[in-house]
Amino acid sequence: MKIAIACDHGGYPLKQTLIDVVRAAGHEPIDLGTDSMESVDYPDFAEKLGRVIQAGGAQRGILLCGSGVGANIAANKMQGVYAGICHDTYSAHQGVEHDDMNVLCLGARIIGPEPVKEIVAAFLGARFLGNDPGEERHARRVKKVRKLES
Ligand code: RB5
Repeated sequence: MKIAIACDHGGYPLKQTLIDVVRAAGHEPIDLGTDSMESVDYPDFAEKLGRVIQAGGAQRGILLCGSGVGANIAANKMQGVYAGICHDTYSAHQGVEHDDMNVLCLGARIIGPEPVKEIVAAFLGARFLGNDPGEERHARRVKKVRKLES
């Protein structure tokens, strides 16, 4: 998969780890910046990432800020972007399996590189289950979420 990656200055310290982990997992990272610790505004980078997802330029995205909160709020304002902050592996795979999450938000001031590797592996290794026999309830719920968008 193509994986869009973006961060603000708060997330920047983890960006290279993220790129390496995505590549090592056999996916193609698309680096959308930022590229230094210079202060920037997280909504600008959430928007950049969201636009790439909306245009089909990436199947999933990973957004970093200091806490993951601002990135998550901004990303979820965009149609077709379903973001979640996951600082544990269970949420990272279950968010995809049940909720069709397509953007993972992480706080670089909250977690370090080792948990990030496992969380990203859980996120990228998961797929939405709502179309599987017996799992239709997830598709029904996701459909209701999509309705809230319009
Ligand atoms: C930047 O200082 C910080 O506010 C931002 O990275 C993020 O944590 C917002 O949620």
